Amino acid sequence: MVDVQPAPVTDALMTDVLPAPVAALFPGAAERARVEDWLGRELAAALLLIRSGPVVPTLDMRVFRGQLAEFDFATPRALEPLLHWTVQQMQHGIVQMGNPRYFGLFNPGAAFPALCADRIASLFNPQLASSASSPVPVEIESHVIRAMARRAGLAADATGHFATGGSEANYTALICALTAAHPRFAAEGARAFPGAPRFYTSRECHIAWLKIAHQAGVGRDALRLIDTDGRGRMAPRALADAIAKDRARGEVPVMVVATAGTTGGGMIDPLEDCAGIARAAKLWYHVDAAWGGGALASERLRPLLAGIELADSITIDAHKWLATTMGCAMFITGHGALLSEVFHASTSFMPSSLAATDPYLNSVQWSRRFIGLRLFLALAAAGWRGLSAHVERSVRVIERVREKLTARGWEIANDSQLAVLDAVPPADHGEVRALVRRVVASGRAWVAATSFEGRDVVRICATHGETSEADIDELVEELTRR
Ligand SMILES: Cc1ncc(COP(=O)(O)O)c(C=O)c1O
Repeated sequence: MVDVQPAPVTDALMTDVLPAPVAALFPGAAERARVEDWLGRELAAALLLIRSGPVVPTLDMRVFRGQLAEFDFATPRALEPLLHWTVQQMQHGIVQMGNPRYFGLFNPGAAFPALCADRIASLFNPQLASSASSPVPVEIESHVIRAMARRAGLAADATGHFATGGSEANYTALICALTAAHPRFAAEGARAFPGAPRFYTSRECHIAWLKIAHQAGVGRDALRLIDTDGRGRMAPRALADAIAKDRARGEVPVMVVATAGTTGGGMIDPLEDCAGIARAAKLWYHVDAAWGGGALASERLRPLLAGIELADSITIDAHKWLATTMGCAMFITGHGALLSEVFHASTSFMPSSLAATDPYLNSVQWSRRFIGLRLFLALAAAGWRGLSAHVERSVRVIERVREKLTARGWEIANDSQLAVLDAVPPADHGEVRALVRRVVASGRAWVAATSFEGRDVVRICATHGETSEADIDELVEELTRR
């Protein structure tokens, strides 16, 4: 065996004088202020350029990789040129959600109060694991969660937390459902059940549910993808049949998940029917409203989500329709005690251990960022009325796109009343995927190709709060170009 001696302690470390802080990491106050001012101006200029520039990356990745390879981290570099270089790469190296012609996946152009929240959270860098470390942030987050829960119509004692994304919040729902379904699940995992655990959602669901089943230890086969009704919504009869069939085989249904705002078509499953089936079968009922939950902000759209109040738990991503920066999801539930049971832990080093209060005792994460400030500031600055106007505006944007495309002979495959349009071009426009590739390559607009109820469609979603009539015209012109 090789005898490894510890490295000798150097003379420098043995002196009595404390070394100065590393200036590159902790510059003085004047230098910080100067660089921050400069960076603020640099970012404002970049935002103007990304709004008017191409939606897609234009960087030659070979050139970029060459530049990146030069970072061997041996020689420190000056911060200002480094920041300038980084902003340039971001400006040309990503699909720009900050461009109002990004009609894309559920990624928003970020609202300004949320950007401010990120700056504040970064400066203070509070640790949100415990209420003793961060009493004010923990209180702010609970206040916002309660407001969202009330908006969804849950009982006054509903609780929850902010999460990194809808996937984490949905994962939390499955763990709660499994824990509620069997008293030994917490100790023994899936083997506690007398048969294989199963859960149910429509085949139009967000497919991260497969990863969730995998990571929860119940296996991907636990996910039952239920047929839809031909209009992109889970078919209640098929759901009830699947549960009954699994039970008859000795398998163990644990949860029904309805989607409020499907990823592909913005459709809302029949929330009340699904709740009834889940109740009758004594299953946990989760509503994945990751995107569609934004409609709760609007008095006009809220009735579309009737039945959400019957949920045992709900996922809502503020970083989708409510336009916060990434990632700002919420898990909301009326079963606070169960949530604390699922995530309890005990250690002496934490500054507090309040079962119902401390985020680390009620959620997947431990150390974490002050995520909820983004929604708090957006909501406080705009009010429900402001968020409602934002959400309703995007529905109007999609109505305008619908009017213009149907006038040009396009067909609409989905009948969502939210802000997603699945459009089918006339036959002489060629194949959908080729059309979408051409639009995206133009850099003038970004849309997705997907399939809805077995048909290839161009998926167009209003995600940016400042999309103008001219932006809509540019999209339509590019879509209908031949
Ligand atoms: C309906 C639905 N659920 C869950 C998710 C996953 O959310 P996230 O990407 O925030 O993890 C998405 C993402 O688009 C979604 O559309």
